[in-house]
Amino acid sequence: MSTLIEVKDLKRYFPVGRVNLFGRHMSFLRAVDGVNFEIRKGENLGLVGESGSGKTTLGRTIIRLIEPTSGSIIFKNENETIDIAALKPGELRRQWRHMQMIFQDPYASLNPRMTVKEIIGESLIANHLASGDELNEQVKDIALLCGLKIRQLSRYPHAFSGGQRQRIAIARALIMHPEFIVCDEPVSALDVSIQAQILNLLKDLQQELNLTYLFIAHDLSAVAYACERVGVMYLGRLVEMSVTEEIYYTPKHPYTEALMSSIPPDSPELSMQKLFIKGEQPSPVNPPSGCTFHPRCKYADDGRCRTEVPEFREAFPGHFISCHHAENLDLQGALKQEIAIASNGMANKGRIDDLNKRRGKIISSQKK
Ligand SMILES: Nc1ncnc2c1ncn2[C@@H]1O[C@H](COP(=O)(O)OP(=O)(O)OP(=O)(O)O)[C@@H](O)[C@H]1O
Ligand code: SF4
Ligand SMILES: [Mg+2]
Repeated sequence: MSTLIEVKDLKRYFPVGRVNLFGRHMSFLRAVDGVNFEIRKGENLGLVGESGSGKTTLGRTIIRLIEPTSGSIIFKNENETIDIAALKPGELRRQWRHMQMIFQDPYASLNPRMTVKEIIGESLIANHLASGDELNEQVKDIALLCGLKIRQLSRYPHAFSGGQRQRIAIARALIMHPEFIVCDEPVSALDVSIQAQILNLLKDLQQELNLTYLFIAHDLSAVAYACERVGVMYLGRLVEMSVTEEIYYTPKHPYTEALMSSIPPDSPELSMQKLFIKGEQPSPVNPPSGCTFHPRCKYADDGRCRTEVPEFREAFPGHFISCHHAENLDLQGALKQEIAIASNGMANKGRIDDLNKRRGKIISSQKK
């Protein structure tokens, strides 16, 4: 699979607190702090991590809804390779045709004074790309693809349920035929029964339109169901990234291990020991020295863990980890039964069976 986006040493610092005599801020909150990874063409890459770890800031910075502090975001399509971080405003607006975002809250993200047709077609009108019958046709096509009905196009958002509103938001994101979409918690605000429908819609659209997603979510079961690879964020940095099966069943970073132990069990006998992470998440204004996870890590040593920032490196083929001891730790992953049960609401047993089969293969190949 070829690379669509390559993120290099991306940082986004927010100025906080007092300013000095020259009007400059003295402290900065490191929401995204030197992130390196690639998003492959046609994949659904999940991004997980506790609240405040920087997922939304990273997603928005990649498509420059938030300005990066430094770093580059290389976008490669068939014809050109460009650094999104270096684009001028006019060029960036043109680039947004290729990159869109779906937000968490379908109630807040739709203008209540516009009809569904106006909402979906707005970008085409603003960019002078279609008008009249052509505009109507394009809006109708995308609306139908997203499971909306033609008669619903003249209505206003308040007449729709959360799930239908998210369909409208997805249609709006797709109208410009983007290649890449950041989905920021696209199902978190919806009822569990509706979540599966929207996840399945996103999956179908991805296959039909050859889309690439960055899928940000708290819900580890939704990510297990939807994503082929997963990145784990902690305090503004990626700490682990690999194929979904490895992240869930054979994690190599102590933070991921603790995260996976939080997946709810289906019965007490199956339950693994829940690993509580000690202490509070440190402030991203004054992150700890060395490995920023060291004050909470039960495997931390008194040397390098406290003094040396671990590099985010490919410790195993395709498996990136930032931990000095990744090769030597024997960590536990989620139990397959737990993932299967927790994902029942997602209504795709085939995918889960597949996941469990591959888990068996990974574990046996690692034991050899
Ligand atoms: N505009 C801003 N100004 C100052 N700080 C901000 C701003 N936006 C985000 N932050 C801070 O940046 C850090 C990362 O926030 P972000 O919203 O990206 O986290 P998140 O992982 O998406 O969290 P959640 O899971 O709760 O959505 C947090 O400490 C947050 O308070
Ligand atoms: S580098 Fe040290 S402190 Fe950080 S995760 Fe690894 S063992 Fe824990
Ligand atoms: Mg967020």
